[in-house]
Amino acid sequence: MSTTRKNNRFFGTPLPGCDTSKLQGKLIVLEGADGSGRSTQIEMLNAWLENLGFATASVGLKRSTLVAEELEAAQQGNILSHTTRGLFYATDFADQLENQIIPALRAGFVVIADRYIYTLMARDIVRGANREWVKSLYSIALVPDAVFYLRVSPQQLIERNFKKNPTLNYWESGMDIGGSRDMFDSFMKYQRLIQAEFRTMQTEYGFEVINGNRSTRAIAGELRAKVQAVIDMPKP
Ligand SMILES: Nc1ncnc2c1ncn2[C@@H]1O[C@H](COP(=O)(O)OP(=O)(O)OP(=O)(O)O)[C@@H](O)[C@H]1O
Ligand SMILES: [Mg+2]
Repeated sequence: MSTTRKNNRFFGTPLPGCDTSKLQGKLIVLEGADGSGRSTQIEMLNAWLENLGFATASVGLKRSTLVAEELEAAQQGNILSHTTRGLFYATDFADQLENQIIPALRAGFVVIADRYIYTLMARDIVRGANREWVKSLYSIALVPDAVFYLRVSPQQLIERNFKKNPTLNYWESGMDIGGSRDMFDSFMKYQRLIQAEFRTMQTEYGFEVINGNRSTRAIAGELRAKVQAVIDMPKP
């Protein structure tokens, strides 16, 4: 497999002590709100890539072996401030970057990230964090080879979330920032704030926006074509 990374760029200074040479794989990021269909698409993309002979690895938020459990417990107990929660998530991200993303890229894997620093930054910024501080915090991150943002209308998001769970998620409804006491209302307001932040980031980071209001199949087809353009496909 020849998936030579042309571009081992970091947003700022790479993680110290981390061997970042010869990152041969590709880092593909799928961003999108809660219930936007990321898992559905990633599962299909993974299966398709593996079928073509690519080794794949999956990462996502709150999945580090270092702090994911503790972060979940702290969120349940509602004991974190906006800043300490943000830093907890940053730790979770740094651990996965160091121990999963970079080693997998060195081994030539296609790494698919179910969300990346953009969601983390948007969440912090809508909670009042200083934009420059947040950018500097995540400047340790590796610039992905491609970022796809699955944009789904808040109405569709509500429907898809209810398909999965009878209740909305407290944090993804922004209940902690007090937009409304009504969870449904709060969800709509919070998702609009996050979407506005993504629009701002889109100009800066140049995501590819995918219209996520369409059928699973239509979205999967577009994603495959776009991923194909990013990785070197084996000759048939
Ligand atoms: N394009 C689509 N059209 C209609 N329903 C969809 C579409 N994609 C996914 N769904 C459905 O919406 C729900 C949420 O999808 P999925 O779990 O893939 O989203 P997610 O972004 O991974 O959510 P979470 O943020 O909870 O991890 C599921 O019930 C799924 O079957
Ligand atoms: Mg999911």
